[in-house]
Amino acid sequence: MATTMDELLEGLNLDLAAEFQAVITYRLFASLCTGPYRQELRGFFESEIPDELEHAEFLADKIVALGGTPSTEPLPVTITTDNRKMLEIAHQAEADTIKRYEERVKQADDLGLTALKVRLEDLIVDETAHKEEMERRLENWKG
Ligand SMILES: [Fe+2]
Ligand SMILES: [Fe+2]
Repeated sequence: MATTMDELLEGLNLDLAAEFQAVITYRLFASLCTGPYRQELRGFFESEIPDELEHAEFLADKIVALGGTPSTEPLPVTITTDNRKMLEIAHQAEADTIKRYEERVKQADDLGLTALKVRLEDLIVDETAHKEEMERRLENWKG
């Protein structure tokens, strides 16, 4: 079945809510992490925030350009005080985000929105780098 513009806008708003969730999550993880590697982890989580904010900016601009209304609510945010669990939560969120953008690429393609499709592919590149970084950090976790 062909994608409609309403379906695409609904999807982009879900993506925007997930980017807001990512910004809040990384901000809070940076504050909540503890232990001997606290400063390093704090800097790492903080370093993710500009990318996610840029994604939110792109999505909000695009939703408005396509005639939609941008969402104001983040997806639910899960926090923890366990450093490893933070990385696991972040890894799962990045993986889920990649799947959503892959679906959005198909919808944009269905609607003949080539520029949107290409930009969404760029977002997949960013989120894949984030996901791989989480994997590298989880790989040799001690303690
Ligand atoms: Fe993002
Ligand atoms: Fe990300």
